[in-house]
Amino acid sequence: MKDIYVLGIETSCDETAVSVVKNGREVLSNVINSQISIHEKFGGVVPEIASRNHVEAISIVTKKALAEAKIFLDDIDAIACTYGPGLVGALLVGVSYAKALSYAIQKPLVPVNHIAGHIAANYITFPKLTPPFLCLIISGGHTHLVKVKAYTDFEILGKTKDDAIGEAFDKVARVIGLEYPGGPKIDKLAKEGKANIELPQTYLENLDFSFSGIKTAVLNLNHKNPNINKADLCASFETTACNMLIYNTKKAIKNLKIQKLALAGGVSANSFFRKEFTKLGKELGIDVYFPELSLCTDNAAMIASAGYYSYLKGIAADLNLNAVPNLKLE
Ligand code: KG4
Ligand code: ZN
Repeated sequence: MKDIYVLGIETSCDETAVSVVKNGREVLSNVINSQISIHEKFGGVVPEIASRNHVEAISIVTKKALAEAKIFLDDIDAIACTYGPGLVGALLVGVSYAKALSYAIQKPLVPVNHIAGHIAANYITFPKLTPPFLCLIISGGHTHLVKVKAYTDFEILGKTKDDAIGEAFDKVARVIGLEYPGGPKIDKLAKEGKANIELPQTYLENLDFSFSGIKTAVLNLNHKNPNINKADLCASFETTACNMLIYNTKKAIKNLKIQKLALAGGVSANSFFRKEFTKLGKELGIDVYFPELSLCTDNAAMIASAGYYSYLKGIAADLNLNAVPNLKLE
């Protein structure tokens, strides 16, 4: 079979990313221009600033991705781009650029859901992984428990009713004085502490999640006791949040009688979560997959991989494609 080269474009939040992936699994280049240092001083992503920086970076990042992959634009088989969910202005930059490239080389424009992209990061790290499997997507904007029935067929089993888990990490980090994005900093500080502070856990009837209770409890505790041990607070937050994630995941695994669990999204880079979910895999006798660290957070290789499987299914958009900020997975 002829090799298929997909150019992926990701601009849904604060990373301008372009990548070339061969046959959905082999990364030839994965260029990421992060805006973290720009948004850091505001304590979070400023949408207008994100859009403007995407405009400035997109051509340069694309040229770099093609050069690193040692491929000409004309040899690309499809252009895949994230068209939602995300910040509308940020998404529009990638969508517009992808349309222009697709028109210029007369190759299909493949629309990709950002969450499907996060799931696909696992296909790159594990070339033999195939659906069906259960996927827990934990990122800054999403907390979804999804049955991946096929490469382009998803069933949402549960999701957060309020804050995404990454959002809770970032807010907790902010109040204890750690810079945006706080997730990786909490990960580090928690290693020096003990999970000795009791925090509320929320369990719903179904497989949905809720993280606003634990987040508010941490904010209040810190406010009332400014001298509280921050490392212990981080360790307690991680442990309690992880218990909630594991509880629902375990329930879903038992209901579905499924043998494979994958994690995805920025928070799946968390070292404590990776340890706990590895333990869960051993306890239940199932295989657990995590994307390599560089593919957990936003990147375009995952978009190119998801785009490849949509391309094989003949999924393509025309030049009327628009950004859909609240795009659903199902
Ligand atoms: O997947 P992602 O890059 O963007 C979204 O699609 O939202 O996820 C970003 C989130 C941020 O909330 C960040 O704090 C969190 O992932 N994150 C982590 C870690 N690395 C990134 N959270 C906990 N531990 C980490 N090591
Ligand atoms: Zn993401």
